[in-house]
Amino acid sequence: MPATGARPLGTSDEKDAALAVRQMFDSIAPRYDLLNHILSANVDRLWWRKAACRFRAILGRPEAAILDICCGTGDLTMALLKLRPSGAQPILAGDFAPAMLRRGAEKFGPPHLRKWRRLKPGAPYAIPLEADALHLPLRPESLDLIVTSFGFRNLADYDAGLREFHRALKPGGQLGILEFSEPGGLLGKAYALYFRRVLPAMGRLIGGKDGPYSYLPTSVGSFPPPQEMLAMMRLAGLTDCAWQPYTFGIAGLYTAVRPPVT
Ligand SMILES: C[S@@+](CC[C@H](N)C(=O)[O-])C[C@H]1O[C@@H](n2cnc3c(N)ncnc32)[C@H](O)[C@@H]1O
Repeated sequence: MPATGARPLGTSDEKDAALAVRQMFDSIAPRYDLLNHILSANVDRLWWRKAACRFRAILGRPEAAILDICCGTGDLTMALLKLRPSGAQPILAGDFAPAMLRRGAEKFGPPHLRKWRRLKPGAPYAIPLEADALHLPLRPESLDLIVTSFGFRNLADYDAGLREFHRALKPGGQLGILEFSEPGGLLGKAYALYFRRVLPAMGRLIGGKDGPYSYLPTSVGSFPPPQEMLAMMRLAGLTDCAWQPYTFGIAGLYTAVRPPVT
């Protein structure tokens, strides 16, 4: 059966699935960054930076309207901000889990929401937006760039997510989706062992919860492989669809464009 969307254990429809995903991320928000960096041996930092660099040209335009959706605790948002010029229009950073978004806003938000880093005058920042990726509270054709990292896989309906991104992008606007995938060959086998056995056990140990890091391998396993995902992107009306593998295909960046009006 073709992929429809994420279905955490015990959920049967889209509404239940979205609620379960939101509750799960809210519950791990305080430990999310620590767990992420330990379990990925900090490789995730490289992936965020590489994905941001792919959109350097748009990020360099001060007036560009940019959304990082499923921003979580904001590490991709921070990588995007590094490439924004001084005085640039703020990035929108959206997520539907308030506890994740609050943590993110402490890093990337305007001065009154920041916890650690002070903002120099004119320094770029992001505005937190509590929003569901499937129902963005944004006008049609309003964005130059939508990016998302490790969140798309969690959407309850992948096709609806892609259609919503297409709706919100301006003609000629660009999309970037950073997601895990399952590499093939011997490396794939070794990685599968780590991903399905070691990672959930470590997640349980450090995070004190079973759910999220058992859900991770399941959700990656049921996510469509690159060729299928690219076909879904084309079906949603996007063009120039491509996938660039990162770190032997453990993760990869999907890119696409909403066709310009001719
Ligand atoms: C694995 S985290 C990724 C966070 C961050 N982008 C990163 O790279 O670390 C996935 C995030 O997606 C968010 N998310 C999942 N489904 C969503 C939806 N339908 N709308 C908005 N956010 C969603 C979750 O709340 C969570 O914060």
